[in-house]
Amino acid sequence: MMNKLITTLCLFALFGLNNADIQANRLFKLLMSKSSKNSHIANQWMVSEEVDEYSPVYIAPQNGLAELDKISALPGQPEGVDFNQYSGYVTVNPTAGRALFYYFVESPTSSSTKPLVLWLNGGPGCSSMIGAMSELGPFRINSDGKTLFMNDYAWSNVANMLFLESPAGVGFSYSNTTSDYDKSGDKNTADDSYTFLVNWFERFPQYKTRDFYIAGESYAGHYVPQLAYTILQNNKKTNQTVINIKGIAIGNAIIDTEMHLKGKFDHWWTHAIISDSTHDAIVKYCDFASNSSSAMCDHVTHKAWNEIGDTDVYNIYAPICLTPHERNTSAIPGSVNFFDPCWQYILEFYLNDSIVQKALHARPTSWDLCSDVITSWNDRAVTILPIIKYLIAKGQRIWLCSGDVDAQVPTTSSRYSINALNLPIETAWRPWYLNKEVGGYLEAYKGLLLITVRGAGHTVPSYQPQRALALFSSFLKGTLPPSS
Ligand SMILES: *[C@@H]1O[C@H](CO)[C@@H](O)[C@H](O)[C@H]1NC(C)=O
Ligand SMILES: *[C@@H]1O[C@H](CO)[C@@H](O)[C@H](O)[C@H]1NC(C)=O
Ligand SMILES: *[C@@H]1O[C@H](CO)[C@@H](O)[C@H](O)[C@H]1NC(C)=O
Ligand SMILES: *[C@@H]1O[C@H](CO)[C@@H](O)[C@H](O)[C@H]1NC(C)=O
Ligand SMILES: *[C@@H]1O[C@H](CO)[C@@H](O)[C@H](O)[C@H]1NC(C)=O
Repeated sequence: MMNKLITTLCLFALFGLNNADIQANRLFKLLMSKSSKNSHIANQWMVSEEVDEYSPVYIAPQNGLAELDKISALPGQPEGVDFNQYSGYVTVNPTAGRALFYYFVESPTSSSTKPLVLWLNGGPGCSSMIGAMSELGPFRINSDGKTLFMNDYAWSNVANMLFLESPAGVGFSYSNTTSDYDKSGDKNTADDSYTFLVNWFERFPQYKTRDFYIAGESYAGHYVPQLAYTILQNNKKTNQTVINIKGIAIGNAIIDTEMHLKGKFDHWWTHAIISDSTHDAIVKYCDFASNSSSAMCDHVTHKAWNEIGDTDVYNIYAPICLTPHERNTSAIPGSVNFFDPCWQYILEFYLNDSIVQKALHARPTSWDLCSDVITSWNDRAVTILPIIKYLIAKGQRIWLCSGDVDAQVPTTSSRYSINALNLPIETAWRPWYLNKEVGGYLEAYKGLLLITVRGAGHTVPSYQPQRALALFSSFLKGTLPPSS
């Protein structure tokens, strides 16, 4: 409900949940906070070929820590777990006492030759354990909130998957200097994530030269390209760790403010969830290219939110969670092909359990999907397109994925953003197939692929796990999924 009050220019479509969700309140607070006024400032992200001055990255000895991070078993995990899991903290700033939490899953087969993939959820301020336990990790949580079942379509089937809670203040990640939370922003997030990686590679040196990719969704449309850029810039400093980054994949990603907002309201109209007149008024009164809001634009976008009703904007065709806190304690066996609309409560219930936290080597924490302690976001790039161009020029593989029934960061937003790049088309729009059915559509541009997943909401693997895994496997191989 609060979601509907979010006005256009303040709305960055943070990773949130359905309209009836408490999380919307948190996001609303974050968006409306004092910082959002000037949070467009992008000058920290002047993309440049110049290598900035040498600033040594903090590196600590990590000997023996990997063994300590090994998870013997997660509470409630099923029989037959045939892969290694690790989790724990990596200190990124010893002076401040700042440490980031990770969960790492090795592939059950040939883990020593499979690539390493870092996964990031968005927000800003939401936990990547969402991806790990509700989207693409090896387990999903049963509706009892206590037991787990196997995800047959886990991405760890094809890669070693590293989930990072970032920045400090998200999930189990923390800082002993709590004023750090007020300094959160795109730049600090990328810098800390980079320091995390350098130290993580010391802890798991067997992965140092492995092919490395970064994937994520939603506001990670900022995090992922920004971290890739940071890595490539730091790789040039030859006496520093060289990370073997090969590409990025981002799903329903926020990459350009103007195109995002324009695409969103067009999607709402063409998906029959708002009226002609409201859409016309949005087109007439909202100038998404400018930094400032207008009373008329605010008015008509509020109207649009009201017209939508209590629908889950992250998947407009999904059921909503009607009984948030009543988990079914009789443990109906979960199915990867049915995504429980109450997943957020189930996830919070599981990860907030002290026994689970102990098994994960996490500090006792009141674990939330999205941070309560990060209340402002100090720098937020207006557009990520210059970084995308830089990554294209560097020959990175770039896939922009999109679940086509997400109304929060819809496919139209991705299409408008890509169009703004004016790239030549190499493979014209066509369907891609899985098991004789259309899995989605794709269009290959010079340097970048747009690929949709049919029937998937914002968290693509939650709703279409098989198609998501097929897409991810193709991404890693660097080949387009089949055309028939
Ligand atoms: C934070 O403080 C606690 C308590 O003093 C300490 O045990 C922990 O190591 C500190 N964290 C970091 C990252 O320095
Ligand atoms: C790396 O190179 C920089 C610039 O040449 C130098 O200042 C720094 O001390 C070097 N660091 C290490 C660890 O060798
Ligand atoms: C928006 O604000 C930023 C930072 O103040 C500025 O650099 C940018 O040019 C502004 N954009 C527009 C369209 O006014
Ligand atoms: C919980 O699951 C059991 C077993 O499937 C079912 O009989 C019961 O109706 C469910 N309760 C609720 C509140 O959904
Ligand atoms: C997590 O657990 C703590 C302590 O047991 C409790 O105070 C807090 O409300 C719980 N949080 C959630 C989201 O359930």
